[in-house]
Amino acid sequence: MAEVGLRELIRKALKARTQAYVPYSHFQVGAALETKEGKVYQGCNIENVSYGVTNCAERTAFFKAVSEGARDFSRIVVVGGEEGAEELEECPPCGVCRQVMAEFCDVDSFQVVLARSEEDYHIYMLRELLPHAFLPANLEK
Ligand code: THU
Repeated sequence: MAEVGLRELIRKALKARTQAYVPYSHFQVGAALETKEGKVYQGCNIENVSYGVTNCAERTAFFKAVSEGARDFSRIVVVGGEEGAEELEECPPCGVCRQVMAEFCDVDSFQVVLARSEEDYHIYMLRELLPHAFLPANLEK
């Protein structure tokens, strides 16, 4: 399967954001996770009245993908901003989501794209966002 273009991946993250369930924070996040085969899994944040139960958009995308058998990922686009906002902010993934990414992705090649629009984005390597990570390899020593 061909790699999805970055613009299309950003569009998919923006679309996923429209499904965010955010009655408490009113902060909507969308994610589009691409596999190495070019398949895309979308996710949004899903809040809960018991706040800590909330699932971030990135983990929604990862858990959807992994539960359907996907294991090899190339990049994720994350978009976020307040409900009704005219412009989006860069939305860096929380620490828990970074750790979930590190479980399944190579920290030196997996890209985290923080986008505000199709034209305005920054690309980070997962290692930059999660330096000195505790990785599956640490348990093998
Ligand atoms: N959130 C995400 O979904 N992803 C992030 O990268 C940061 C935070 C969500 C969690 C919560 O629903 C809302 O944003 C405010 O923290």
